[in-house]
Amino acid sequence: MAIEKTLSIIKPDAVKRNLIGNIINKIEEQDLVPIEMKMLQLSEKESSKFYEIHKEKPFFTQLVDYMTSGKILVMVLEGDNAVNKYRDLIGSTDPNKAKEGSIRKLYALNTTQNSVHASDSLENAKREIEFFFNI
Ligand code: CMP
Repeated sequence: MAIEKTLSIIKPDAVKRNLIGNIINKIEEQDLVPIEMKMLQLSEKESSKFYEIHKEKPFFTQLVDYMTSGKILVMVLEGDNAVNKYRDLIGSTDPNKAKEGSIRKLYALNTTQNSVHASDSLENAKREIEFFFNI
């Protein structure tokens, strides 16, 4: 057993379409426990800082703008193997490539408006959790 923490964001497209409950249901079904959560709207500065690892990517501006376009729900999830388990649950970045039953396959609109974010490593989970929470 390796109990880990990971960061989840329910993104503006999913919040606007009233999908918070459905997504949290999927999370809890996998025995991932939300131990912190808050709703907020990112400023452009905060969004750029959060996604700074992508700043050289062609989609960076689009991503930053989209993530400031409405409220998001940010959560810390805890559980056994939480980082990889939650990445597996959300599915590929591109919903067309995401596996059946994954959150993005079910709900994402496209590669940018893809409903959820998950930390991609333990190291990034730590950085991302510290970005939003004092834990
Ligand atoms: P996320 O898991 O939040 O991490 C980085 C985000 O960048 C990703 O989800 C997508 O929303 C976005 N992204 C990644 N690749 C692309 C792409 N090729 N085109 C547009 N947006 C992308």
